[in-house]
Amino acid sequence: MFDIAPEFGALLVFIEHRFYGESMPFGDGPYSSPDTLGYLTSTQALADFAVLITSLKQNLSAVDAPVVVFGGSYGGMLAAWFRLKYPHVAMGAVASSAPILQFDDITPWSSFYDAVSQDFKSESPNCFSVIKAVWDVLDDRGFNHTGLLELSKTFRACKTVQSADSLSNWLWNAFTYTAMVDYPTPANFMMNLPAYPVKEMCKIIDSFPAGADVVDKAFAAASLYYNYTGDQKCFQVEGDDDPHDLDGWGWQACTEMVMPMTVSNESMFPPDSFNYENMSEDCLLYYGVRPRMHWITTEYGGHKIDKVLKKFGSNIIFSNGMRDPWSRGGVLKNISSSIIALVTEKGAHHLDLRSATKDDPDWVVEQRRQEVEIIRGWIDQYNKDIEQMWQ
Ligand SMILES: *[C@@H]1O[C@H](CO)[C@@H](O)[C@H](O)[C@H]1NC(C)=O
Ligand SMILES: *[C@@H]1O[C@H](CO)[C@@H](O)[C@H](O)[C@H]1NC(C)=O
Ligand SMILES: *[C@@H]1O[C@H](CO)[C@@H](O)[C@H](O)[C@H]1NC(C)=O
Ligand SMILES: *[C@@H]1O[C@H](CO)[C@@H](O)[C@H](O)[C@H]1NC(C)=O
Ligand SMILES: *[C@@H]1O[C@H](CO)[C@@H](O)[C@H](O)[C@H]1NC(C)=O
Ligand SMILES: *[C@@H]1O[C@H](CO)[C@@H](O)[C@H](O)[C@H]1NC(C)=O
Repeated sequence: MFDIAPEFGALLVFIEHRFYGESMPFGDGPYSSPDTLGYLTSTQALADFAVLITSLKQNLSAVDAPVVVFGGSYGGMLAAWFRLKYPHVAMGAVASSAPILQFDDITPWSSFYDAVSQDFKSESPNCFSVIKAVWDVLDDRGFNHTGLLELSKTFRACKTVQSADSLSNWLWNAFTYTAMVDYPTPANFMMNLPAYPVKEMCKIIDSFPAGADVVDKAFAAASLYYNYTGDQKCFQVEGDDDPHDLDGWGWQACTEMVMPMTVSNESMFPPDSFNYENMSEDCLLYYGVRPRMHWITTEYGGHKIDKVLKKFGSNIIFSNGMRDPWSRGGVLKNISSSIIALVTEKGAHHLDLRSATKDDPDWVVEQRRQEVEIIRGWIDQYNKDIEQMWQ
């Protein structure tokens, strides 16, 4: 999407979210106290954007210039919410892979992991079955120290792992993130990966003899994610994820970004449940706060979004690729003539925002073309309205 700035004669402004990157208001973290982290909220971040954009336009003597906000993932949610909260600051928003309906009970809680599983199942039922079978095997073998030693070798772990859960998490992350970034061209978003990496993972699994060990198969598939470039000597399976090494998202997830998720028995992951009390206790333990479980839908809405936005909103593109599990919590239907859902069957996590490449399939090229056409329509209308205002 950065590509399209020149044809609009647009100034590109990338605003960093408070408490991420270099925008640390209290100096370098880690912050562990609610006294400082309390200032890390989406509401405050949106207000930052409004202040910055307004000030920048004044300084550039361009107060009437149209502003369109763009974002992907959480950034996509912010883009959509910004348009709703600050319609006088941004006249349009492109919200790519923005799961603004992943809150409360708006979207079925199991849909995320069902979608991940569907990606794998649709490539190869065998691939799906192998992955589904691996978790119990890991649990059994990782039960005692001898087993963990063996498994650590199989997983080429840099250090002997302390529990089979670490191995499960390591595999789990590889499969989930690969589904998210199942792009049609080679990419380096989370990791360096080939085109259609889910298909490549399943090819690896399917190339084993049927009787081979499921752990070997699953490990080889996950290696595509962690070691596609071939430069890993060993794997940091257990990493150094100290729960007290707090990052911004963990805090946000424990305060306002409460996205309930479960794992159904139809999925390829071990079934799992969700309950609010349990989560509340965990958050109290880690961060000393209890989540505001339903704040997001109170603050920004989400329930009956089609009816609400049809009457109230305008100029938002919600784009989603159905290969991306986050698409299930996105807006997948057109709401009005200017609140448009663009859905691609084979798209992945904010694919449309990525730079164009010569290998892009036609449907991505078409999606991006359509977005440009819609944005141009908004701007033309905006300029007409401004002109009339001065007459
Ligand atoms: C606009 O100019 C004022 C005065 O020089 C400055 O304080 C402010 O930071 C500028 N705003 C932006 C967004 O650059
Ligand atoms: C560890 O568990 C395996 C079965 O998973 C068993 O065969 C083996 O004897 C156990 N080793 C020890 C030292 O308990
Ligand atoms: C990573 O891939 C390279 C090349 O295939 C291989 O030599 C190396 O052993 C792999 N690393 C691990 C930890 O498996
Ligand atoms: C899956 O879960 C559903 C509902 O929770 C239950 O009715 C069904 O028997 C389960 N299926 C299997 C194979 O466990
Ligand atoms: C969370 O739920 C599990 C069972 O689902 C239970 O074993 C655990 O103790 C609970 N944790 C808290 C903090 O309530
Ligand atoms: C929404 O409308 C646009 C045309 O304005 C169309 O191209 C698109 O396919 C529609 N989206 C859905 C999900 O039907």
